[in-house]
Parts: sequence; C-alpha cells; structure tokens
Amino acid sequence: QSLQGQAQADGGSGVETATVIGAGTMGSQIAAVAALAGFHTYLVDIAEEPLAQAVDQLRSRFDRDVEKGRRTREDVEAAWERLITTTDRDAAAAASDIVVEAAVEDLDVKRRIFAELDSVCSPDTILATNSSNIVPSRLAEVVEHGGRMCNLHFFNPALVMECVELVPHHGTSEETRRRAGAFAEELGKTLVTLKQEIPGFVANRLLNAIRREALSLYDQGVADFPDIDAAARTALRHPMGPFELMDLVGIDVVYLIRQAEHAQTGDPEDLPDPAIAELYEAGRLGRKTGRGWYSYA
Ligand code: CAA
Repeated sequence: QSLQGQAQADGGSGVETATVIGAGTMGSQIAAVAALAGFHTYLVDIAEEPLAQAVDQLRSRFDRDVEKGRRTREDVEAAWERLITTTDRDAAAAASDIVVEAAVEDLDVKRRIFAELDSVCSPDTILATNSSNIVPSRLAEVVEHGGRMCNLHFFNPALVMECVELVPHHGTSEETRRRAGAFAEELGKTLVTLKQEIPGFVANRLLNAIRREALSLYDQGVADFPDIDAAARTALRHPMGPFELMDLVGIDVVYLIRQAEHAQTGDPEDLPDPAIAELYEAGRLGRKTGRGWYSYA
C-alpha cells in the first residue's frame, strides 16, 4: 500500500460491516445508502413484514434510479449482494463495526436497545442513533462503554439528502467522533459536526423555527397553508414548503418529536401545535396514509 493509501486508511472509519436497526422510512434508506457505499450491511427489524416491505420499496427505488440513469444496474445489484435483512439483531450487531439505530422515537425503547447492544457488541463497535431529538447522553447513561456512543442524524429521504449531523455527548471519545464522522463521509454525505449536544441539533432547530412561524401564521388566519408553502418555495427557494415537508416527514413524527422535546425542556412552547395534534388524532399522518395537510392520490 502507498503511503498516501496508508494515511487514508488510518483516517478512515475502519468500518466494513454496518447494522441498521429499524426497517422504516429512515432505517431502510440508511441501510441502502450504506450498501451502495460498499459496506456489508444488515437491515434489522423485529418482524419479517417490515423487512419485506422495505425490500420492495428499495427495489422499486433502485429500479427507478437505474431507469433514470442515476445508478448503474451493476452498482445496484452489487448493493443488493451486500444488503442482508434479518430479525436476528444481536448476531448482526455482534458482526458489525457500527450500529445505527433507527427504531421508533421512544426513549425507553431506544434505551432498551442500546443496553442490550452494549452487551453483545465489541467495545470497538460504534453505537449510533439516528434519533432526531433524543440527545446521546440520555442513551449513553445505560451503556457501559459510553465513549462509543453518538448520534448520526440523517434526513428524509436519506438516499437523497446530503447532510448527516454528528452529535457527540460529553463522554463521546475522540476516536468515536473521528470514526463516526469518517463513516458518514464514506457514505458520501456532508458532515455537520456539533461540538456539544442540544435537543433538535442544528438543522431541525432551524426547521422548527420555520415550522413554528408557519403554524403560527396559519393558526392566526393570516394565510392558508398552501399559500405559506408557496411563499417558502417561491420566495425562499426551499424545495418544499413547511406543510408539505410535515407531510413528507410524517405528522406522527412531528407530533412525537414535539412531545419528546417538551418532555426534555418542560417549555409549553415546545408542545405539539393544536393543528398538528388534530391531524395526528385523526390519523392523517401525511404521505404515508394518503392524507395529512394535503391529500395524495
Ligand atoms: N425516497 C428516495 N428518493 C426520493 C424520495 C423518497 N421518498 N422522494 C423523492 N426522491 C428522489 C427521487 O430520486 C426523485 O426522482 P424520481 O421520482 O424520478 O425517482 C427525486 O428525488 C425528485 O423527486 P420529486 O420529483 O418527487 O420531487 P422533488 O424534486 O421535490 O424532490 C425531495 C423531492 C428530494 C424530497 C425534495 O422535495 C426535497 O429536498 N425536499 C425537502 C426535504 C427535506 O427538507 N428533508 C428534511 C426533512 S427533516 C428531517 O428529515 C429531519 C428529521 O429529523 C425529521
């Protein structure tokens, strides 16, 4: 190996095999990103059905990418070879250099997962959560080797969005920061590194400010939501307006994130907006249920 190659190897993540926990919207696409980037990847869920659904969705996504000339058939087939779905979480995690958890946004569920992972993974395995708002220290509390924990926060749709936020807690080791950051870059993502944890991290705090204002304008009857979206799209050149984006991310996700934020800060300002609570309770969860703010055919 050349000296430069050696230096690159030394600066790399050292990851060959990755496990992604949770075959939902985020987990399935994060696993696909990892497999496309050349990592042996396990996509784990507690049942076969969500795994089969994820495979179907990724299949059609990949087919479309090949049709559109965005990827080659060879690259996609090679990624399939590297992507293994399984319900045997512990075996996958034990064989992996990094685990990215993308299960439901529930502190107790995540704590249980990480406590269990801690005992099956080698101490060198990076333990990362894709949680949007649970700060890593809340999870590191249940982990003996907390230095290997951080958040690697992807954005929806993870196959497309370039950003990954690296969020350390005060005890995250330098080595974990370096390797997790290198892994995100090896995935082809742009790394945004936080120096310290804060609920909402950076991008979602920016997004929340916009969403909060958009909901306030709507609640006050200043403008209807399609007009507020149009302003964001055409005056600010955002790819989507805040209401369209809520439908993409999922009204349930927005609702649960707000609740979790409120639980962490106790600030009534952080409670879900009444309009969000109404949609959530009506089961209008956005694109995935065919109806949220907008209706989808
Ligand atoms: N999965 C994978 N790829 C997708 C996708 C999805 N769900 N939706 C769209 N794409 C890709 C496809 O390649 C698609 O092309 P095809 O339809 O030809 O396959 C391409 O994007 C363009 O899609 P569209 O023509 O349907 O629409 P678009 O041009 O508006 O792009 C978008 C879609 C990429 C989602 C774009 O609108 C966008 O960037 N929106 C903003 C997304 C955003 O802000 N995400 C952050 C959310 S916040 C978050 O994730 C944080 C959190 O913690 C909750």
